[in-house]
Amino acid sequence: MKQKAEKHDPHARRPSILLGGVGGDSHSVGLTILRHSLQADYRVSYLGTQNSLEDFFQLAALCNVVMISSMDGHTRYYLREFPELMKKYRAHRPLWYLGGNLHIGDAAGYERHFVEMGFRRVFVKFTDVRAVLSVLEQDLAEVEPMPECTTLVGLSQPPAPSLAAPVSDERYEGAAFHGCRAEVLEQWGTGPAARDLERNAAFLARQPSFPRLQAEVNAGRLPMLVQPRSGVPQVCDQIRLFRAFAGCGARVLSYQVDSLTRNNNYAGAGEAIAESRATGAATLNGFPVINHGVPGLRRVIAEVGVPLQTRHSTRDPRLLAEISYAGGVTAFEGGAICYNVPYYKNYPLDESVRRWQYVDRLTGLYHERYGIALDREFFGTLTATLIPPSLAVAVNLLESVLAVSQGVKCLSLGYAEQGHRPQDIAAVRVMGEMAREVCRNLGHRDVQINTVFHQYMAAFPDDPARAEELIFNSAVTAALSGATRMITKTPIEAYRIPTLEDNVQGLGLVMRGVAAAAAAPVPEERVEAECDLIRREARAIFDGVVQCGGGSIAAGVVRAFREGGLDIPFAPSVHNRGAVMTARDLEGAVRYLSCGHLPFDRELREFHRERMQERRRAEGLRPEGEDHLLVERDVMRVPRGEYERWPLSA
Ligand code: 5AD
Repeated sequence: MKQKAEKHDPHARRPSILLGGVGGDSHSVGLTILRHSLQADYRVSYLGTQNSLEDFFQLAALCNVVMISSMDGHTRYYLREFPELMKKYRAHRPLWYLGGNLHIGDAAGYERHFVEMGFRRVFVKFTDVRAVLSVLEQDLAEVEPMPECTTLVGLSQPPAPSLAAPVSDERYEGAAFHGCRAEVLEQWGTGPAARDLERNAAFLARQPSFPRLQAEVNAGRLPMLVQPRSGVPQVCDQIRLFRAFAGCGARVLSYQVDSLTRNNNYAGAGEAIAESRATGAATLNGFPVINHGVPGLRRVIAEVGVPLQTRHSTRDPRLLAEISYAGGVTAFEGGAICYNVPYYKNYPLDESVRRWQYVDRLTGLYHERYGIALDREFFGTLTATLIPPSLAVAVNLLESVLAVSQGVKCLSLGYAEQGHRPQDIAAVRVMGEMAREVCRNLGHRDVQINTVFHQYMAAFPDDPARAEELIFNSAVTAALSGATRMITKTPIEAYRIPTLEDNVQGLGLVMRGVAAAAAAPVPEERVEAECDLIRREARAIFDGVVQCGGGSIAAGVVRAFREGGLDIPFAPSVHNRGAVMTARDLEGAVRYLSCGHLPFDRELREFHRERMQERRRAEGLRPEGEDHLLVERDVMRVPRGEYERWPLSA
């Protein structure tokens, strides 16, 4: 085989591969790993996430293989123009590969659909990287490698330009805010219905409230709240799901917004709603709030009678917040950092800071004028993958300060379980404690602080027994952590968006786990040790940002990302340095494999270096140069089920 022989000849020309994600989707962990695995044997041109289909065609002629990844189930929509572009560019020469998660739910028929369109290989659902490499090798056996070519160098986009005026911590007020508000409400036809704040407030005052219920939990009068996820295209189906969840003991509910809406593509969402109405199929991966508008939301809350939250990751969240609150929703997730860096390829931080200051100011106005507290939650989960607690805590604290500066009175700080129980319990504890401290220091004594525990958010085990064990024991950890609220997963996470039945089964498991926590011991000493570490690291990161901004948090956030004082592992954003790398220690706790430019002192750096050194030794890896193997093993360990039990231990 020609290809095999060449592979071992360092001077032979290697086949070239163009790799990237298509559409609005932001999942970058799989792409990152695929990129690293391909680089050993091929010339890889990497486009990162969130490319248009045409971006691939413009470079296709220079490559042997074009690999398109699409993870959010909207692939059919993103590839609509494929046949047309094929004609326009006459791009039949490269082999087209398509993979990821091509359809929500049953994807039967999808492989054929895309093969007929012109794809050589189609991987409809999650595929092991080794399987992809082996087909690729077969396919390229008889193919002449394309000549070396410089056009593909320097593909990554330059960062988009920033706002003209620098951001500050000042309140977003007066004409600046209200002028902007008029424009925001015109962004889509359903916007003007949200205009009258006084009438919205009168409606909100009569609705079940997130902050009120959380206050009961924090006062010890109610147990931890359990919140399942759901999101379907039609209002009536969303209501049906919510009613069933409320029947299983969920006292708060939220919908996931679909990813077309998240990218502010309301026309696209409209088409998909119409298609779902005509065919009865789930054509969207969530609930399209903007299209259903204020009346749609009011219908939901009237029928369900439980406090509601909007969960999304929308690029421009302002209209979504307006419509949510006007529709009776009392909690809104997201923030300038947590809904930017983990989700978008090229979204300047000063722009996201400004937009979220608008959302926070709107939230604050409802309290200031009408006494209505609305919850603002931060997605400390970040990229979900090997996130060290101190980074999650620091980001939550920064988002909290930005929010309270605009008048927000109820904060929920989110953290995603990593799988090491003492570390996870410590993270939730320190997060609440430091948020209270920061608010007190800033003179905000009337802010409600809540903590939110997300069940494991990275790639899930596909073995049903393991997935169930994870859900159950994760609920134990959540209850032990003292979180106000937990957000659940279901045992089928590796396969599809959960159905009603999946969620009901998951909730049952979670409720049993929460009950079992009463008899589970807390490893106090280990938890305390982790608390100390997280406090020191989170304080260092937070103080570094304050310094960086010369006292302004908003300016500090923007500058710290540029300089690497804030740096999120596995993020798709070009505004993120990507110098921080993480892996697990021998016990399973997440440590810094590289601290990048985080302002850690020698002692902290030394601690992480030693933990990683122990790990390399135990796995027979060289002290340097093989660290990507550690990371890949850790990323794949849970989905592959390569662990004894959940939570992880030595
Ligand atoms: N319905 C139910 N769960 C969803 N998730 C995302 N969208 C939906 C939806 N429409 C869940 C998945 C995902 C997490 C972020 O939220 O579990 O991993």
